[in-house]
Amino acid sequence: MTDSTTPIRFVTGNPHKVDEVRAALDRPIEQVTFDYPEIQADTIEAVAEAGAREAYNHLGGDHPLIVEDSGLRIDALGGFPGPYSSYIEGTLGIERVWHLTEREDDRTASFVSVIAYIADDDVITFTGRVTGTIVAPRGRAGFGYDPIFEVDGRTLAERTTAEKNELSHRGQAIASFATWLDDQSR
Ligand code: IMP
Repeated sequence: MTDSTTPIRFVTGNPHKVDEVRAALDRPIEQVTFDYPEIQADTIEAVAEAGAREAYNHLGGDHPLIVEDSGLRIDALGGFPGPYSSYIEGTLGIERVWHLTEREDDRTASFVSVIAYIADDDVITFTGRVTGTIVAPRGRAGFGYDPIFEVDGRTLAERTTAEKNELSHRGQAIASFATWLDDQSR
């Protein structure tokens, strides 16, 4: 068990994710860069859980840690890019993803985020989800697919970190995690 002053390691190479977690979680967060292998699995929860165990074993199990895994699913494209979201962002790019979706009548998409927390060899996962619409890129904030993912008339890249956290997949996963952490320290 950890008290509320114990830093939680966040194993990620993505500084934007770290900013979002720090903005929403009232706990010290220490970024650790370790490229844990991502397993092939049916659920994003299983991928995050395996990543958390891998990182915990590698880094030594004396600090609680989290990993986070996310994915974009575009309904009209059968859930594409899903598990390939990172690869597709790096190869096709988000502008091409917009053009692939542009011709569809229904441009609904969802973003899912799973946070896996591990301490004392136990893993627990927290999932957040947001539904939106794929649009032509707008906005300069955020990262990744934010400029093409619109919710309530604004893309995620047209919001501050705090505004994005209020409704985003990651913001919701962090909120569940925060509630659980609070319960643990009662
Ligand atoms: P991963 O969870 O870091 O593997 O991210 C998968 C893909 O989704 C990458 O292309 C990220 O850039 C993208 N991604 C993850 N989270 C977000 C987000 O909050 N907004 C936009 N793109 C994201």
